[in-house]
Order: sequence, then C-alpha cells, then structure tokens
Amino acid sequence: MKQRRLVERGVGMTTENLLVEVTDQVAVVKMNRPKVLNALNSEVLKEIEATMTQLENSPEVRVIVLTGEGKAFVAGADIGEMKDLSPQEARDFSNLGHRVFIQIHTLEVPVIAALNGFTLGGGLELALACDFRYASEEAKLGFPEASLGIITGFGGTQFAARAFGLSRTKELIYTGEMITAHQALNCGLVNRVFPHDDLMAETMAVARRIIRNSPEAISLAKEAIVKGYDLGLREALELESDYFSACFALGAHRDRMKAFLENRKERKK
Ligand code: HXC
Repeated sequence: MKQRRLVERGVGMTTENLLVEVTDQVAVVKMNRPKVLNALNSEVLKEIEATMTQLENSPEVRVIVLTGEGKAFVAGADIGEMKDLSPQEARDFSNLGHRVFIQIHTLEVPVIAALNGFTLGGGLELALACDFRYASEEAKLGFPEASLGIITGFGGTQFAARAFGLSRTKELIYTGEMITAHQALNCGLVNRVFPHDDLMAETMAVARRIIRNSPEAISLAKEAIVKGYDLGLREALELESDYFSACFALGAHRDRMKAFLENRKERKK
C-alpha cells in the first residue's frame, strides 16, 4: 500500500528532464527543460522511453497526458545536439526518435498530448505520435526544419500525412510556417482548443471520461486502429473481427452488459 501511494504520486518516476505525477489513474508527464523550451535531446528521448515503459507496466495508470513546462510543449529537437552530428549519428538520432514515438503510438494505454505552447519540429512529431491532441489558444505549431537545412526526422513526414493529409503536410513542411491553435484545429491537427488556463482541467476531464470505460476494450481498440491503418480494407476488417472476438475471450464485457440490461429493467419498473 505504501509503495502504491508512492507510485501514485509519481515518486521514482520523475527524472532529470521529466516531471511525472499520477493522480486518480492519470499520469501527467511534463517535459521539464524550460530554459531550452523543452528541446528534445537523446537523453530526454531515453527518459521518455523509460518512463512510458514504467507507466505502461503500472496497472494503476489508465491514461497518460504529455505536456510541457513553461511556454513550450516542445520547440523541437535540440539544435545544440544536432549541429555537429555526422550522417551516421544523424541516422541514429532519427532512429532513436522513431523507436520512442512508435512506442507511444502503440502503447497499451491512450496518450493525450496537451499542447501548452510552442509545438515545433520534433515536438510536433511527438504530439503526432500521441493518440490525439488538445491545444491551448496560445499554442503555435509547425515544422521549421527546412529553415535549418534538414527535414523532419522523428516521423513527421509520415505521422503528419496520416493525421491530416498529404497536401497540408507538404505545405507545413515546405513553408515552415507556424500556425495558430485555431488553424491547427481547422486542419484536424488538434481535436480541440481551450483557453490556456483551462487546458489541463479539460484534458483531465477527458482522461477521466476514458477511464470510465473498459481498459481492455480501449487497448484492443487502439491496437486494432493502429494496426488496421496500415492494411487494406478487407484485411483490416478481418483484423477488427479478431479484436472484437478477443473482447469476448477476455470476458470483460459480461459484467458491463449485465449491468446495462439490469439497469434498463430497473428503469422500466
Ligand atoms: C535548442 C532551443 C530550441 C531548440 C529554443 N531553444 N528552441 N535550443 N533546440 N529546438 C532555446 C533558445 O536557443 C533559447 O536559449 C531558449 O530556448 C529560449 O528561446 P528563444 O528563442 O529565446 O525564445 P523565443 O524568442 O520566444 O522564440 C521561441 C521560438 C524559437 C520561436 C520557439 O526559440 C525557435 O525558433 N526555436 C527553434 C525552433 C525549431 O527550429 N525547431 C525545430 C528544430 S529541428 P538561450 O540560451 O538563448 O536562452 C527538429 C528536427 C526533429 O525538431 C527531427 C530530428 C531527427
């Protein structure tokens, strides 16, 4: 019990560059390098990876919210670390990002990005690896990489095209323009925009809404959506049937369906 309480407060999970707090089954992971607008270097990426593994293996964590300390969610990969990379080191850095972002993309529990400010380059790629995104009215989003002579290397060319289409992705990457939260909402990059001070409360309310549902159903749905997206329609529907059937094998539906039917009966009395 004592240990459980420590886990719930996120003790032992907070790292050099990440603040982790678990409250009522929601883990809030806050990028915490505000002096460099939470820029992602290799160390931070590895900390995110280790933290995600730890949270995924904590039965008391049902939803993860990623956000940033200060005026940025993440203002990109760390330019200081990138500037002297050899081609091989650049590939390794890109591969590390892919490994961590695919981990988030396929994590058993939903991961919501709460974009509190600048969400640029690798920061936007991180946000796109999450299940969905909410933004503060103050958030600014974009892919400024081309202005630095590079391209998105943490999955942006692929995640963005999948999230909101090829032509908008090309426009954002070629122009490097920063768009507002409301523009991001219009093109489907974020699901909702909130006044800055309401962002976390609104995000937490959605997390609590998710928690009311069956954790088994949510993780099976996530896996079916993620895996099915890469398949042709018929194969994807076959996969959906596999996952639908898996719900019945797990049996988590029984109590919930019984409760629904009993409740209807009660109401009719
Ligand atoms: C390292 C960064 C940084 C970054 C900001 N900082 N972004 N350091 N890497 N990505 C640092 C600044 O150098 C500065 O340090 C401090 O954070 C505060 O930033 P300012 O520029 O003073 O803030 P402001 O004037 O408000 O401008 C905010 C900003 C600007 C518009 C977001 O910082 C900016 O353009 N940052 C770079 C954004 C970017 O190009 N991101 C893409 C990176 S490439 P000091 O020491 O001066 O206080 C990328 C590739 C991903 O992400 C794929 C890799 C494989």
